Amino acid sequence: MTETLLNRRKAAIPAGAATSHPFFVDRAEGSELWDTDGKHYVDFVAGIAVMNVGHRHPRVMAAIAAQMDRYAHVAWPVQHYEPYVAVCERLNAVAPINDAVSFLVNTGAEATENAVKIARLATGRSGIIAFTGSFHGRTNLALSLTGKVAPLRASYPHFQPGIFHIPFPIPDHGTSEEESLRALDHLFRASISPDQVAAILVEPVQGEGGYYMAPPAFLQKIQQICSDHGILFIADEIQSGFGRTGKFFAIEHSGVEPDLIPVAKGIGGGLPLAGVIGKRSVMDKVMPGSLGGTFAGNPLACAASLAVFDIIRDEGLLDRATAIGQHLTTALARITARTDVPPIGAVRGLGAMVAFEVFKTEDHSVPDSDTTKTIATRAAAEGLLVLPCGYWGNTIRIAPPLTTTDKLLDEGLNRLTRALTGLYSNTIRKENHA
Ligand SMILES: Cc1ncc(COP(=O)(O)O)c(C=O)c1O
Repeated sequence: MTETLLNRRKAAIPAGAATSHPFFVDRAEGSELWDTDGKHYVDFVAGIAVMNVGHRHPRVMAAIAAQMDRYAHVAWPVQHYEPYVAVCERLNAVAPINDAVSFLVNTGAEATENAVKIARLATGRSGIIAFTGSFHGRTNLALSLTGKVAPLRASYPHFQPGIFHIPFPIPDHGTSEEESLRALDHLFRASISPDQVAAILVEPVQGEGGYYMAPPAFLQKIQQICSDHGILFIADEIQSGFGRTGKFFAIEHSGVEPDLIPVAKGIGGGLPLAGVIGKRSVMDKVMPGSLGGTFAGNPLACAASLAVFDIIRDEGLLDRATAIGQHLTTALARITARTDVPPIGAVRGLGAMVAFEVFKTEDHSVPDSDTTKTIATRAAAEGLLVLPCGYWGNTIRIAPPLTTTDKLLDEGLNRLTRALTGLYSNTIRKENHA
């Protein structure tokens, strides 16, 4: 079955639209998946940090079905519908922004593009500062904002002008907070004056970049620099938002109040929905009619989103995200200490946004992206889905649904241990990684 489907896929779809694992999903439930050959998987990917309330949550399914009975699409630019308003009210209520307003779009890339567009319109400035290792989407502006060459920016030389990258602070990889801030100072002296900068765009926890957390003090300093120079602070919460880190938004861990927050992924419970939350004073500078799109804020996605908000509240998923993070990081620290696994370390997590890194050397000085990919492949063979990521390509990220039980977490961890221990015997590890 899988073989036939893979052949059809190869014939019909270009390699650019790549897929990590060579199997086809038959069905999914909670934190589990089954492929078309009947194989079972524990899902530590959650559709790339989307299915925070799990697959096929009954309340999400009921909400979509009820909305489907009334209307599926009518287009917000043409007439109003209540679920769109309700989602924006809920976003405004949970956002760490005073006097927030919101509007809806379809995808994360669209949300970051809109946040940048608003920042440029509101300030009358064009400069945008983003970070190395960042990921903000694959459309042209979003790609220009993204701070990683392969496979994202490679072979697309025509980026939008006015976008600059400074190093994201990752002390483990040699960049301290001070060095990041010094790079910003150099940028202001060498390339663009602060009064030409519309916004600084930062992921409070980098997603595709490797699940690196920006230290709260660093975010506070960036905010101070922003307010000193009339620069807007944009927190990209597309991957880190919707409860994943134990708070509704990861930026809340730092106490920083952003001007704009692009959101996507977990907001729609599996349906494509995204949005931008922002200070009313900033958003109101944008001309009527310049924001939105045909499908933006689709009613079915809005209905699903309202159910997601309720589930996060009623099932205590913020606390559960924290507990899942503790459970996973404790277990990973144990696994890391084993001598029959490749050199892994840098175990970290903010809530249920958990990661570890794979190295070629015992001193953890040389990242090993090839073995990282092999681990993900071996894990899938063991029936566990994990996803590699990272600026150095050597991070395994773990982002299970926030509804995952301890029993299923342990089952996933057992499968991960089998994938890791199957890679090298103790002797081979010592020979290869001396
Ligand atoms: C932080 C961040 N921003 C933006 C995006 C782009 O979102 P989308 O793939 O929905 O366009 C992603 C996707 O992974 C992301 O993690």
